Amino acid sequence: MTPPATGGRFQVVPAAYLALLRGPADDPEVLLQLRSGTGFMDGWWACAAAGHVEAGETAYRAAAREALEEVGVQVDPSDLAPVAVIQRTCALPDPLEQRVDLFFATRSWTGEPSVQEPDKAQELRWWPLAQLPPRTVPHERRALEHLAAGAPPTVLVHGFDQTLTLVAAVGRNGVIGDGSTMPWHLPEDLRHFKETTAGGVLLMGRATWDSIGRPLPGRRTIVLTRDRAWTASGAEVAHSWPEALLAAGDREVFVVGGGQVYAEAIAWADRLVVSEVDDEPAGSTVFPTIDPARWQEVSRDPRTGFAVVTWRRR
Ligand SMILES: NC(=O)c1ccc[n+]([C@@H]2O[C@H](COP(=O)([O-])OP(=O)(O)OC[C@H]3O[C@@H](n4cnc5c(N)ncnc54)[C@H](OP(=O)(O)O)[C@@H]3O)[C@@H](O)[C@H]2O)c1
Repeated sequence: MTPPATGGRFQVVPAAYLALLRGPADDPEVLLQLRSGTGFMDGWWACAAAGHVEAGETAYRAAAREALEEVGVQVDPSDLAPVAVIQRTCALPDPLEQRVDLFFATRSWTGEPSVQEPDKAQELRWWPLAQLPPRTVPHERRALEHLAAGAPPTVLVHGFDQTLTLVAAVGRNGVIGDGSTMPWHLPEDLRHFKETTAGGVLLMGRATWDSIGRPLPGRRTIVLTRDRAWTASGAEVAHSWPEALLAAGDREVFVVGGGQVYAEAIAWADRLVVSEVDDEPAGSTVFPTIDPARWQEVSRDPRTGFAVVTWRRR
């Protein structure tokens, strides 16, 4: 992971999360909310009550306050059982993306849970703790799975193994496309792309998705767009880098274009896998300049019509 731009220091952003539980001890249900209209992880299920810990407030009190504000139930902070602390990050240098999440659970409250902030939550629903919905916010899933396992409170780390690799085919003149298509047809490069990214997470801009027009088999595809109404079968949607990287999880993420997305991601990528194509096509979409002061070539593999060159951040 790229070290934070602050030179190693970061600002801690603590947040409190509350799992409301009901039902038998060996098969409880947990109350989750479907996020909506917040601008972050909308369409994902999350703990019914959660939010930042405010100045001068304990995490216990923050969880109880959020339960009242978001779900309309009274919770006594002394009834909250700690579940886990998660130290969380993602492969972004922004210091605000270093977080500490404190998870609690309780079976004790007064009042009937109901959506209090309809501009942020579309729905509340009880889910079996042992069978969470597929689109559960990934770090919250980790804490809830820990709770389901009946294990004692613990510290979990999330996102520290995430790395970003840019994979691109680039002409001698830096051109990668004309805005809608690739300027060449190189079956061997397509095979190399498939081998490199197999089983991984692909992250691409909406224009690149349009140029491919379908999900690539055997890989998850996350599409970046600012259009909140955009959907496509087989694509996961993210509206910002933090959202995309949180959805991608604790693994290598392959950033696969196009020009805009490469230009944003090269600032914090760990590795570049560039097919240097033996051609100088016309086209307006280019790969960003690879600055040798920041990047070191670590391998060069000549193929027919191109060479696969791997760079690592110095
Ligand atoms: N040679 C190669 O290896 C290679 C690889 C991939 C693509 N390409 C080529 O590259 C061209 C497409 O590249 P491009 O630069 O035009 O577009 P692009 O990078 O694929 O997509 C740009 C779009 O992504 C979304 N986006 C970008 N940054 C975002 C952010 N921070 N937050 C939210 N959304 C964000 C926006 O979508 P909205 O407009 O929907 O908001 C933006 O218009 C095509 O010609 C394609 O063939 C070449």
